[in-house]
Amino acid sequence: EADKSLYERIGEEPFRRIVHAFYEGVAEDAELRALYPEEDLGPAEERLALFLIQYWGGPSTYSQKRGHPRLRMRHAGFHIDAAARDLWLKHMRAAVDGAGLQEADRAELWAYLEYAAGFMVNAA
Ligand code: HEM
Repeated sequence: EADKSLYERIGEEPFRRIVHAFYEGVAEDAELRALYPEEDLGPAEERLALFLIQYWGGPSTYSQKRGHPRLRMRHAGFHIDAAARDLWLKHMRAAVDGAGLQEADRAELWAYLEYAAGFMVNAA
């Protein structure tokens, strides 16, 4: 199954579950929560879920709604230092580990998220 995309292997539901659990963590973390400008985290949850689904080989609904991801640019307005990255990764790690994925799938997803989070850091 290595020739199939992660999305083809696991489908949409685990991405939805992971992102939902992640934002539950954000909601309970005052320091990280302060970075998110909107009172309602629901739309942010939807954007991250659609992005990950698209990135991993699912439907390109994210880009239909939001255009090219340009994620580093979209994060430029938020002060993301190493501490913010670590908080983001802490909550994402808990969400990914709780999703019940097969180990190879979990490891592939996690390696990407860890790398991408480092890429989003824009403040010392
Ligand atoms: C949006 C913070 C890493 C993907 C956002 C927003 C904040 C934020 C505050 C705005 C909420 C919204 O309106 O959607 C952070 C922090 C990170 C981080 C503190 C720590 C390093 C990542 C990573 C990814 C990602 C690693 C992807 C793998 C997204 C996406 C959006 C978003 C797709 C919505 C972009 C849009 O369409 O406007 N992030 N983020 N973020 N983030 Fe992050």
